[in-house]
Amino acid sequence: MGVHDGHRKRRREQFVRLWQTLVQLNRQGEETDSRLPALRREQGVHFTVVCGENAASDGLLPAQADNIFSAGADVITMGNHTWDKRQIVKYMEACPYLIRPANYTARAPGRGWGVFDGPQGLRVRVVNLIGRVEMNPNFDNPFTKMDEILKEEGADLTLVDFHAEATSEKGAMAWYLDGRAQALWGTHTHVPTADCQVLPQGLGFVTDLGLTGPYQSVIGVKPEQAINRFLGGLPQRFEPAPGPCRMGAVLFDIDTRAKRCVSVQRVDICEEGRQ
Ligand SMILES: [Fe+2]
Repeated sequence: MGVHDGHRKRRREQFVRLWQTLVQLNRQGEETDSRLPALRREQGVHFTVVCGENAASDGLLPAQADNIFSAGADVITMGNHTWDKRQIVKYMEACPYLIRPANYTARAPGRGWGVFDGPQGLRVRVVNLIGRVEMNPNFDNPFTKMDEILKEEGADLTLVDFHAEATSEKGAMAWYLDGRAQALWGTHTHVPTADCQVLPQGLGFVTDLGLTGPYQSVIGVKPEQAINRFLGGLPQRFEPAPGPCRMGAVLFDIDTRAKRCVSVQRVDICEEGRQ
């Protein structure tokens, strides 16, 4: 074995690659299911978290959760649409790999986080949080909830999906957790942000993954319906826009010995090669 071979081997053992993507709307859920396995192989991904709260437009159905897991998701997170499809409640209570925001009140069913088997025998903690700015103010404080969760031992790495509207709330959470978690990504706005970065203490951060869905749209829905709402027209049931889809995803490379993220990069993939 040459010097470079040994170096490459060490690198493989020391680094894990995490991938997060957001599923948005019916047909894009199918898109994710069909593309995820090959993408995981191509990118050398070790652990995948998918936000599934919009797979059924609003909410997630049990069959869709099955499909997302079959496609290679290790964990599915949710958000403000967690309960829109009530069929998911029983599924969630039985399946620890499907989590909902941890700072829901104690009366909510399901789990807000878990510690899961990762690559190389690593124990990977995944936490789902929801913001309060421009959202439901009755949620528990996500910052102090995270302090509580981090007191629990037994995890080698901690990854956080912060489902929130405000860029400021997501950024503040990232800096609050820098040095205590390895990756934090935002979801909910459906608009990808260009601020991938590693914070000083080694937390990889992006403000929002963006949607996996039709990007020639207003956050995934038909533009004319969004315009109608802002013009004050009669309320309509939102429908997914037609047109090509883009999968919004971000890769985090983590040095598992130093417990630091070393790289964060977008890997958005467009249908038909269009940007
Ligand atoms: Fe949401």
